[in-house]
This record gives sequence, structure tokens and C-alpha cells, in this order.
Amino acid sequence: MANESLSKAKEAKNDEFYTQYHDIEKEISAYLEYNPDVFRGKTVLLPCDDPEWSNFTKYFAQNFETFGLKKLISTSYAPESKRYKFGYVPTLFETEAPHYDADKSKTHGKIFVLDHDVTGDGKINVEDLQWQYLEGDGDFRSKEICNLRDQADFIITNPPFSLFREFLAWVVEADKQFILIANKNCVTYKEVFPLIKDNKLWSGKTEWAGGMWFETKNDDDVDRVIDGVNMKNVPSIWLSNVDHGRRHQQLALMTMADNLKFSRHKEIRGKDDYIHYENYDAIEVPFTDAIPCDYEDAMGVPISFLDKYCPDQFEIIGITDRGNEYGIKTKEFTIEDSPVFGDLNRRGAIMVDGELKSTYARILIRKKQ
Ligand SMILES: C[S@@+](CC[C@H](N)C(=O)[O-])C[C@H]1O[C@@H](n2cnc3c(N)ncnc32)[C@H](O)[C@@H]1O
Repeated sequence: MANESLSKAKEAKNDEFYTQYHDIEKEISAYLEYNPDVFRGKTVLLPCDDPEWSNFTKYFAQNFETFGLKKLISTSYAPESKRYKFGYVPTLFETEAPHYDADKSKTHGKIFVLDHDVTGDGKINVEDLQWQYLEGDGDFRSKEICNLRDQADFIITNPPFSLFREFLAWVVEADKQFILIANKNCVTYKEVFPLIKDNKLWSGKTEWAGGMWFETKNDDDVDRVIDGVNMKNVPSIWLSNVDHGRRHQQLALMTMADNLKFSRHKEIRGKDDYIHYENYDAIEVPFTDAIPCDYEDAMGVPISFLDKYCPDQFEIIGITDRGNEYGIKTKEFTIEDSPVFGDLNRRGAIMVDGELKSTYARILIRKKQ
């Protein structure tokens, strides 16, 4: 297979990952812990879902009354519109409904709504979910789903990875509260980083280390089988503009002098000083736990710092990554400086044993005054 077809095939497989119930519960609990009324009286839209088996729909429907929700809407994408087709088999829930239509089930999306007690048991829960076919295929960009977005207070989902940039723009343009799953690397995208810098988007509560495990429908791309279910590990994180307590916990850090003496990292311990970039007016801090608490100027830190970022402790001033430079760059390298000047210009450059080296992408931060 040619390279292009290979990567297209790989990409096509990548959208069908299903989020585990306990991952949703763990993340959403953090927002509720911070504000128990966060969802009270609100309409929650779960787009890009597959409500018959989605844990997002199950979790929010089961907790409808506890959270005090006004309305829950969940929509799915037509099986025939999916880039990766894994052999759609309708559930009994679907085929037993009087309005089930075998053809429409393949070409149309579905909408599930929960807002009142249908069964008459005095409770509003998962048993009261009602569904219909959508007019179209459930594409989040369609007029139909845009209308649902506009009436929602919260947009919560694990959107298709291949369309993440577009999906985020779709949520942000409507000025909604959101809780989303994304790939870790997206924080450096030029569509994402400026929102992080301006505190309009931040990491969710779930820690970044270890990635996340998803159920996968692609039998050829499995990392582990758990209880007969194919699972795939993806370097995913939660991103949100809903506040939670971890964002307000400051990192416990040592002074620069103590880091140079006692740091657990050999790159810092025993050195005379932190390395200063050759092309940014900032010091290179290769580990989040090695940030010196008493340094007043700019520092470049790994992107995983965002997992621990507390806006009361630090401000974000930029990023050393292609197309994402914010003001404090001090030098452009040329071929005279180094044969790899292009790489050096895209990143922070440091001098190691008399040779210029580029670092990984770094977030530039400064202690909050
Ligand atoms: C990463 S999966 C997550 C599914 C579910 N939200 C979950 O977390 O369990 C993303 C889903 O979005 C669907 N999708 C892909 N493109 C879409 C589009 N343009 N509009 C709506 N849904 C889409 C995919 O088919 C896939 O089922």
C-alpha cells in the first residue's frame, strides 16, 4: 500500500474509540466536587456519540435527577457516514422500537432525548430516554446539530480525533461550556494553544500520565483484551472550560538553589545554573517538578506542565513551537549558526557541549506577580 493510502487507512480507523464509564465518572466528579450545582437546570448535549452503547449517555441519564439536569440530548453519526465501517449491528433497543427502519438506521443519525418521566415510575432515568431518526446523518457540522448545540448549555463528548480542530472551533464559536477528550499533542496546535494561554480552555482533572484506555472496534489495532473487550491505549487528555478544584492547587516547588543541590534529576542536580535558551529570553526547565519557585523571569517547561497548571501560581506567556511564538524570541538562526537552523528556529535552542540543540516544545511561563 502506498504511504498515503496507509496513513489514510490508519487515520480512518482512529475515530472509533469508545470511552469507559469509570473514566467519565472520574472526570465529571471533579466538576461536581468543585460546584455540586454545575449541571442544575442545564441542558447537556452529547454529540458524536453512539447512544445505544455510549457510556456518556448512560452516565448522564443515570444521574439525571442527582445532577438536577433540565434536558439531556445525545446524537449519533450514521454508520454509513463513518470513515471506518466496522459492521453495524442494531441493538434490540433499536429494532424493537415501532419506528425502527432498517435502511434509515444505516444512513441517518439518531437523537436521544431525556427530559421527563415517560415510564410513569416517578423517576427520570435511562428508562425514559426516547429516540428518533435525525433528518440527516448526525454530522456535528450540519444545521440540525448546530441548532441542538445552540440550545445546549454544555457540550460533552469524545469527538472524532481526526476532526478535533474543527470540533473545538464549533464549540468555541457557540460560546458554550464544554468538557472534551482530545489528543495530548493538540495543546500545541495554533487553534488550541492561544485559548490555553488566555485561560479560556484548560486541562481537566484526570492526570495525563499513562494515557487513556478506550474500547476499540478495530480488531487489527488492539493493545489489550480486557474481559473479552478490545482496548486501545491513546495519549488522550480531558480539556474543558469548566472550573475544577485541581486547577487551584499550587505546585509545591523548591528554590533554584535547592534544585541545583537536591533535584532528583541529574540534568539539574550538581549544575551551577539552569541553561538559558540561545533564542528565547528564558531558562530551560526540562521537568515540571524542577521549576524553581523563586525565579521571577520566563521559564520553558514541558507541555505536560499543563496537567499541573494553576493560574493563581503561574501565567502562560508563550510556547516554543512552530507558528506559536509569542513575543520573547530573541534570535533567528541561519546556516552560519548550524546546519539544523530550521529545527532550532522552530523550538527552544540550547547549547550543549558547544553544540546547538533544539529542545522539545516548551510552554513559556512566569511566576504570577
Ligand atoms: C472517538 S469516538 C467517541 C464515541 C463516543 N463519544 C464515546 O466516547 O464513547 C467519535 C465518534 O464520532 C463519530 N464521528 C466521526 N465524524 C463525525 C462527524 N463529522 N459528526 C459526528 N460524529 C462523527 C465517529 O464515527 C465516532 O463514533
